[in-house]
This record gives sequence, structure tokens and C-alpha cells, in this order.
Amino acid sequence: MTIENVSCTLNRYPEGMVKLDDFKIVQGPIPEISDNDVLLKVLCCSVDPFMRGRMKKDNPSSYVPPCQPGKVIQVFSITQVEKIGANVTDINVGDKYMCFNGIEKYTVVPQQAIKGDGQKNLGNYNKIDPNNPIKDSFYLGLFGMPGMTAWAFFNKVGKPKEGETIFVSAASGAVGQVVCQLAKLKGLKVVACASSPEKIGFLKGAIKVDEAFSYRDFPDKESFVAQLRKVCPNGIDIYFDNVGGYILDSALQLMNVHGRVVMCGMISQYNLKDKYQYTLQDISNRRLTLQGCLFNDYFPRCMGEFMQDMIPMVQSGKLIYKEDVYKGVEKTPEAFIGLFNSKNFGKVVIEPF
Ligand SMILES: NC(=O)c1ccc[n+]([C@@H]2O[C@H](COP(=O)([O-])OP(=O)(O)OC[C@H]3O[C@@H](n4cnc5c(N)ncnc54)[C@H](OP(=O)(O)O)[C@@H]3O)[C@@H](O)[C@H]2O)c1
Repeated sequence: MTIENVSCTLNRYPEGMVKLDDFKIVQGPIPEISDNDVLLKVLCCSVDPFMRGRMKKDNPSSYVPPCQPGKVIQVFSITQVEKIGANVTDINVGDKYMCFNGIEKYTVVPQQAIKGDGQKNLGNYNKIDPNNPIKDSFYLGLFGMPGMTAWAFFNKVGKPKEGETIFVSAASGAVGQVVCQLAKLKGLKVVACASSPEKIGFLKGAIKVDEAFSYRDFPDKESFVAQLRKVCPNGIDIYFDNVGGYILDSALQLMNVHGRVVMCGMISQYNLKDKYQYTLQDISNRRLTLQGCLFNDYFPRCMGEFMQDMIPMVQSGKLIYKEDVYKGVEKTPEAFIGLFNSKNFGKVVIEPF
């Protein structure tokens, strides 16, 4: 048998911190197609923190159904039509789609899956305009789910005003780096935290935030609050929370009256059994708004507005985007674990070929 396809499956539901052998790499031949099928070549796949929520058998708070052990892990992907069956219409070899697809080199889908039910939703195959100059992987990051999350949550939930102070955690990541730049462009003071000196250098140098520091230098609430007081002498108007835990708890202490906390994600908690216990008394006396937000509430509703706002900023070079590209399906476990041990630097993408 010639091995030409490689897929990444879930080996078992991880317990605690996700491990390399929670995944299994499976090899096989390129799948055959029948008359109504389409063979897709996978150009790139997105690796995102929300996948951890899908790797729990029972996760009542998850907004997506769980992955199944033994099945190929499905993620946001860019695919290209490689071959079509004899009865396939209106789909051509070379067409590219942004879709939800397995992490693998090749996938077979019935043509009806691509044509869909006419509804625009996450499971849809969105055809990519071949004349669009945006590079494929950017549909998974800057112009995909993380970029739109950053743009929508910052503008619609953060309700930023010029001169305000925003604090952003996981600031060099797929979402955070966009939030920091949008906030700078809107005239806010931007305070950012991340893990390593390399990431702090990127935030201060390439992204030009006003203040950046490593949260690892301030590993508990007391020291973190003291550091925030130093770098946010006028308090915090918007906290864009990507991490939860003691960083969120500390930020709450610095929030100004009528401040907004954008509850984007809590990555510090995703692998823990015993979750962080928060101190919430600052919320009422400072009349804070803490808003939980989900990408699905803005996609596809705000897609047009998002693209219209973002494209000129990107084309003029005012907004940049850092990616972390892993070559080969075999790298998926390492790439995914990298989200939780801070090894990733920018938007994580897998290129199967
Ligand atoms: N609500 C939604 O619809 C939505 C959509 C997209 C993303 N999200 C959430 O947004 C957050 C960021 O997502 P992303 O895709 O942009 O990921 P990302 O920032 O590219 O990667 C995750 C980053 O989190 C940081 N991190 C990991 N463990 C941490 C810990 N214990 N304490 C502090 N920081 C930690 C790491 O950065 P450092 O090197 O700085 O440690 C890591 O690079 C996640 O919480 C995600 O779940 C939510």
C-alpha cells in the first residue's frame, strides 16, 4: 500500500494537561471518490484553544460538540478541490474553500456538503474568491475566526474611546496581537502581557504597545496587582481577557468605574480540574460590565463590516500579523500543546504538505 494520506485523530479524551499521545497520527492511501464526491486537498489547518473544550466527553459549558476518539479532528481549514466525481456540478478542480474539515492531507466529501443548505453558518464551505490577494492561511487567522473575534469583541463589547487604557492578556497570540493593534490605531493606551522576553520584544517593537511585561515575573495576585498599578496609573477602562485565573482577578482590582471586561477566553483554566476562585466584590461598586462573548454571535452577521474595516489597515501596513506555521500533519500534537505551554508565537497553523 502506498501511504499518501496522513490524518490526525483523537486517541483518547485528555485528562488534565493535554499530552502528545492523546493524539494518534494515522496513515493510509488517498481516499477513492464516487460519482457524487469531491476530493479535497487540505492546504492549511487552524489550531485553536477552543479545540480543548471539544476534547472533553462531558463539557456542559462547551459551545461545540465533542470530538470522538478514533475520528479525525475537525478544525477550520482551507481546502482545494483536487478531483471531482462524474456527477458533480458547479464545483471545479482548483476551487478553494474555507471550511470545517479534518486535520489531514486529503478528505472526500459529498458534493452536497459543499453546496450546503443555503444557510451561512460555521459548517459551511465558503468559496474563496481566486482574485482575492489575501494569503490562504490568513483566512484562519487575521481574516478568520481569531481576527474577527478580536475586531468584534474589541469594538462591539469593549466600546473603546480614544484616550482610554486597555489591558490585553495573551497579547502576542492569534487574538491578542490584533486587539493590541486595533486599540493603538484607535488612540488607546495599550498595556499588554505575555510570557517570554521574545514576545514582550515583539509587542513593544513590532506592535508598539505602550507597556508590555511578562506575567511570569508576577506569578501571584499580589505582585500582579502591584505591577498593574505601576503600568496603569490611571486604572484600566477595558480588560480584554484571554486567560482568566489570577490575571483576571488582578485586573478587576484596577478597573475604573463603568469599565468593561471582555470575557474572550480563559486559557489558564482549560486543563485544570480545580478552577481558580475569583474575588468579585469590585464588580458592583465600580459598576463594571463583564460580558461573555462568542465568535458565533458575530459570524457571519458582521463579516462585511469586519472586512471593510480591516482590509485597508492591512493593505496599508498599519496592521501586521504573526503566524507560527508547523509543516506536516504529524506536528499537530506538538502545535496544539504549544498553545498551553506558551511555545506558540502568533497564530498557529498546520500545513499538511
Ligand atoms: N469567545 C470566543 O468566541 C473566542 C474565540 C477565539 C478565541 N477565544 C479565546 O481567546 C483566547 C486566545 O485565543 P488565541 O487563539 O488567540 O490563542 P493564542 O493567544 O494564540 O494562544 C494561547 C496563548 O495563551 C497563553 N497562555 C497559555 N496558558 C496560559 C496561562 N496559564 N496563563 C497565561 N497565559 C497563558 C500563551 O501565551 P503566553 O506566551 O503569553 O503565555 C499562549 O500563546 C483563548 O482563551 C481562546 O479560548 C475565544
